[in-house]
Amino acid sequence: MSVKILLLPGDGIGTEVVSVGRKVIEKLSHKFDLDVTFDEGLIGHAAIQATGEPLPQETLDKANQADSILLGAVGHPSYDNNPKAKVRPEQGLLKIRQELGLFANLRPVKIFPQLIDSSPLKPEIIEGTDILFFRELTGGIYFGKPRGRRDDDKTAFDTMVYSKFEVERISRMAFEAAQKRSKKVLSVDKANVLESSRLWRETVEEIAKDYPDVELTHQFVDSAAMKLLTVPRSFDVILTENLFGDILTDEASQIAGSMGLLASASIGNKVGIFEPIHGSAPDIAGLNTANPLATILSVALMFEIAFNRKDIAKAVEDAVEKTLHQGYRTGDLVLDKSLIEDNEMVLGTKQMGEKVVENL
Ligand code: IPM
Ligand code: MN
Repeated sequence: MSVKILLLPGDGIGTEVVSVGRKVIEKLSHKFDLDVTFDEGLIGHAAIQATGEPLPQETLDKANQADSILLGAVGHPSYDNNPKAKVRPEQGLLKIRQELGLFANLRPVKIFPQLIDSSPLKPEIIEGTDILFFRELTGGIYFGKPRGRRDDDKTAFDTMVYSKFEVERISRMAFEAAQKRSKKVLSVDKANVLESSRLWRETVEEIAKDYPDVELTHQFVDSAAMKLLTVPRSFDVILTENLFGDILTDEASQIAGSMGLLASASIGNKVGIFEPIHGSAPDIAGLNTANPLATILSVALMFEIAFNRKDIAKAVEDAVEKTLHQGYRTGDLVLDKSLIEDNEMVLGTKQMGEKVVENL
């Protein structure tokens, strides 16, 4: 097997975790005799600094030539208190998702038994949780027009808009995944209030007719947010729109124990992007404390989904599990922060990566 992988480290801890991801892929290429070539591109704040644009054409060209993409994170604190900045790092990520047609974002939430005590939630509540989110990724309020300001800057607006075909295509993906799991899809919306959610619900119902073996239920997003904390085990495949999915998956990461654990796959067209769900975490950037496991697990997803190599994905997941079983943690996985300092089992980003590579 011969593959070309584009690395888009982006900003903040993105560079640290992607460099670990690269080491894992290099190890895999030896172990499984793969012919891997790497390319690297700029996105986000790093790209703005170098070129003035959050997604330079050169990066997009490289993306279109790659077999798959591993992305770190985008974002920089210098924009947080500058609401009027027209050019922003996040635009790079949104644009590449749109340009590559990546309308489906898969976010699995699974519990490593070794980390059952890393979650702020009680073990008996989270035990056995296994959720697969299908977050719609190129529609909704993230992209809807019109958006902007009016009335002398005293009013601002965004538009949450969905067309039937956008709901149909992500729904089909969720139903197909459900057929290979517990044959249950939960669609999350706000159909008691939002017109776009009423179209969403109606469309999902129509698509469901093609999958009679799958049971479809609906839930309002506010209720789903609550139930995720009280009965996380009751969820299986969750299908939802862009913004709801963004929010619910950050929440769900706490079931697993940390944002630093959740991987994602953005797919829908030729080339997919595999990325941790966490952001650039500027507060810990450059400190070698970020958790690289979400990125390593994104590499696993890449091999499973983009390259159809479940065996390699499994090897990566097993190596992560073994590392956790040996007792190694990054700081985010230690609930009692007083235990982090001078603890030989608490590793830095690089060292955690090295352990996983060793176990591979
Ligand atoms: C994510 C991130 C992005 C999003 C940001 C960085 C644009 O939070 O991938 O979840 O909101 O989609
Ligand atoms: Mn997010």
